[in-house]
Amino acid sequence: MKKIIITGGAGFIGSHVVRRFVKTYPQYQIINLDKLTYAGNLANLKDIENEPNYRFVKGDIVDLAYINNLFEQEQPDAVIHLAAESHVDRSITNPLEFVMTNVVGTVNLLNAAKNIWKGNYEGKRFYHVSTDEVYGTLGETDMFTETTAYDPHSPYSASKASSDHFVRAYHDTYGLPAVISNCSNNYGSFHFPEKLIPLAINNIKQQKPVPVYGKGENVRDWLWVEDHARAIDVIFHKAAIGTTYNIGGHNEWKNIDLIKLLCTILDKKLGREEGESAKLITYVTDRAGHDLRYAIDATKLKAELGWEPSITFEEGLEKTVDWYLANEGWLNDVTSGHYQEYYSEQYNNR
Ligand code: NAD
Ligand code: DAU
Repeated sequence: MKKIIITGGAGFIGSHVVRRFVKTYPQYQIINLDKLTYAGNLANLKDIENEPNYRFVKGDIVDLAYINNLFEQEQPDAVIHLAAESHVDRSITNPLEFVMTNVVGTVNLLNAAKNIWKGNYEGKRFYHVSTDEVYGTLGETDMFTETTAYDPHSPYSASKASSDHFVRAYHDTYGLPAVISNCSNNYGSFHFPEKLIPLAINNIKQQKPVPVYGKGENVRDWLWVEDHARAIDVIFHKAAIGTTYNIGGHNEWKNIDLIKLLCTILDKKLGREEGESAKLITYVTDRAGHDLRYAIDATKLKAELGWEPSITFEEGLEKTVDWYLANEGWLNDVTSGHYQEYYSEQYNNR
């Protein structure tokens, strides 16, 4: 019997991780700890909310007293930490919020785990979920490996880099049984439509302009979110303490090519004339400090733990577009802010 606190479980990737753990490991107790910010949505977990091994607690990882108290009460064996402010553009507007959640929040969790485990680390684990953005940007041919030097450029990536350093510091200084993974761009169901792929699908569907930053030549390495959740499962169970793994899809796309592909897919699915959706492509001012290229070398994860992506990008993108077309209610709710009003009432603005 294992009790695991998963933070940020109501978000995009967190909801897939919670679902996977709840369904795959009925012998584990899964506690989803989430503040329910604009990005957290319990509708992402409707299908498993009544499972006997699942519980949701609403809480803020920045609230030190609350976190210490929760850890004292629950005595978790493990933490899988995904809660974060995750959107680069928002970090440019409001960097301090990213420092609070991503840095202070992570240190609060590390400290709470250290306090309750008291140096007895048998069967314990702190898994920190991080990003490839900590490594900065690449030239045309190189790739990020686990030993690439950190070189973050946005307030978001700087806050994630800092949190990674604190996790390693707690391992090196206090022996905390930590593991870290750094993943490339995810896509799939329940992705909040402020990020490129769901935003483009939503705008194309609604015949609205699709904003392309700069010349659209920036490259991202896309991974299907359920493959990320499976990698987290594998690393959580098999990685040696103190290790780091990169996770990626070997799937690089220039933004403009990806958007054109989405336009073509949606032309077919929505019965539009070929080329009609592409007319919505609109070049806009570039993101400040915009990293040119990310590409993950996930060789270590494949060689040591046997993980590889399970589906091609074409399959994953098709599934994703179908999901968004079939889940118009979810999309309307998150874009209208309806679900946030519901939470304010339901939780009385706690
Ligand atoms: P998301 O923005 O969709 O979800 C974040 C979740 O964290 C939300 O449910 C939100 O309510 C919760 N949260 C935010 N602040 C909180 C706080 N103070 N206390 C408790 N909960 C809080 O994010 P995501 O895209 O699912 O990313 C999850 C994690 O994976 C993040 O740590 C991110 O850095 C990392 N990551 C994301 C990607 C990606 O492509 N999205 C890639 C690699 C790594
Ligand atoms: O690499 C992993 C990271 O991927 C995660 O750590 C982040 O949490 C996640 O948000 C994502 O960051 P990006 O900045 O790469 O994702 P985003 O979807 O915001 O943008 C993808 C690319 O598309 C990027 O080059 C900026 C560009 N873009 C984005 C938006 C929202 C546009 O051209 N137009 C847009 O409207």
